[in-house]
Amino acid sequence: MADTDFDVIVIGSGPGGYVAAIRAAQLGLKTACVESRETLGGTCLNVGCIPSKALLHASELFAEASQGAMAKFGVKLGSVELDLEAMQAEKMKAVGELTGGIAFLFKKNKVEWLKGHAAFISPNSVDVAGKNYTAKNIVIATGSSVTPLPGAEIDNEVVVDSTGALALSKVPGHMVVIGGGVIGLELGSVWKRLGAKVTVVEYLDEILPGMDGEVRKEARKIFKKQGFEFRTATKVTGVTRNGDKAMINVEPAQGGAAETIEADVVLVSIGRKANIEGLALDKAGVTASDRGVIQTDHLFRTNVAGVWAIGDVIPGPMLAHKAEDEGIAVAENIAGQTGIVNHEVIPSVVYTHPEIASVGKTVEELKEAGVELKIGKFPFLGNSRAKTNRDTEGFVKIIADARTDRVLGVHIIGSLAGTMIAQAAQAMEFGATSEDIAYTCHAHPTHSEAMKEAAMAVTGLPIHI
Ligand code: FAD
Ligand code: NAI
Repeated sequence: MADTDFDVIVIGSGPGGYVAAIRAAQLGLKTACVESRETLGGTCLNVGCIPSKALLHASELFAEASQGAMAKFGVKLGSVELDLEAMQAEKMKAVGELTGGIAFLFKKNKVEWLKGHAAFISPNSVDVAGKNYTAKNIVIATGSSVTPLPGAEIDNEVVVDSTGALALSKVPGHMVVIGGGVIGLELGSVWKRLGAKVTVVEYLDEILPGMDGEVRKEARKIFKKQGFEFRTATKVTGVTRNGDKAMINVEPAQGGAAETIEADVVLVSIGRKANIEGLALDKAGVTASDRGVIQTDHLFRTNVAGVWAIGDVIPGPMLAHKAEDEGIAVAENIAGQTGIVNHEVIPSVVYTHPEIASVGKTVEELKEAGVELKIGKFPFLGNSRAKTNRDTEGFVKIIADARTDRVLGVHIIGSLAGTMIAQAAQAMEFGATSEDIAYTCHAHPTHSEAMKEAAMAVTGLPIHI
């Protein structure tokens, strides 16, 4: 190939794109990253993982303080007030520090930021803000955006998407969340803790589709106790704005009498779709599937040589850490090394209280595949640290192959589930059996001992229950 401006151009600076760009530069490739936002870091840092976790943390502090949760530990507080402006400002500070951190890392690693929207001109050139840039390799890391709900137009005042729900300047009296998935439950939790009444309308029979069946049921029970109202098996047929209120028309998913729910804010969170519009994929010859995602092989090559794709724009769970690992792998593949991602072991965490975390397969998936299972379950009620901290909700569940004892899935609902799942992911990556976990010494007193006990429960011999 004739001389090009760059060895690698990455389109998009989310967790997939910025990580790919940095690793490519570390491997000696002349690299640029195109980003049309004002700041680097993509959905995750700007309007996703980071601001949502900032508000989840802050709102949890407020809920604990205002509900007197610390009084039983002898910590008595006076009157507690919400300063939402300060809470939002602290969130923005964290976002600013982290997005600024990526700009610093780009400078440090000599990754050039091309500011603007990229569109393909050919397989090895893109247009950015009216200028043509060429590269031997182009990585599509354009991420995803909110799936629109027909009949519910987002105005980000009364009818909001996740970005709008992260930026509300007033606690709504009544928030209706359309979609009982990850975003609905996380952002519903934020506004619930700050004082809103929250109703979740979910099309399916149960919230959190795709997760372990027992965990889904337990989660609903706990969230209901927290005051969430659930309308499952219910479909939204339209949302209209009536002054500063929204009227949500719903009916049973299987058909039946319609009714209207009034809300101050409606959050539409029914999933996300890959960003492929405006890229002029046809100019590169890259094809997208019927479902609107870009197909790649296990090395992240598209159907066109020299064009690669990673992150939310390709199939698989739409998670930041999956995108990051693919970013590293694609850069290593471009540099002639072997970069692979084990898609069987991608942990996922819902950052509600309690947290919900899982890795590997669910019982439902394995039963459908005809795999014979052994299951060990241990409740936090039997864990000394959880009991001491007075946070005994939830359990750890380990699923192992009945023949080989190999761990095939771990599902946790509990206050520290998101931290605990890393151990399970590492064990599975190393091909661990439940016996391996059961005979690993776990520090006492920690919530992680519940993992060891669940592993012992696989053979029916837990100690503390
Ligand atoms: P993105 O982060 O979406 O980045 C793509 C970037 O490409 C964007 O900045 C976009 O502006 C840019 N771009 C697109 N097209 C072009 C173009 N043609 N030219 C130039 N630039 C372009 N995941 C987790 O793992 N943990 C969480 O806690 C979590 N919380 C979330 C909370 C919310 C509210 C949301 C919405 C998502 C959350 N996610 C979370 C999902 C996570 O944000 C995504 O999986 C992740 O950001 C995907 O990374 P990506 O690099 O593929 O794309
Ligand atoms: P989701 O796929 O998690 O949940 C969407 C929910 O909406 C599902 O329960 C679905 O059955 C329901 N639904 C779909 N259409 C509906 C309709 N018309 N009426 C009522 N319900 C309907 O999608 P969500 O919550 O929007 O999140 C998008 C993505 O962002 C997820 O894939 C997730 O991976 C990622 N994310 C990850 C987070 C994390 O890792 N903690 C946090 C937030 C988002």
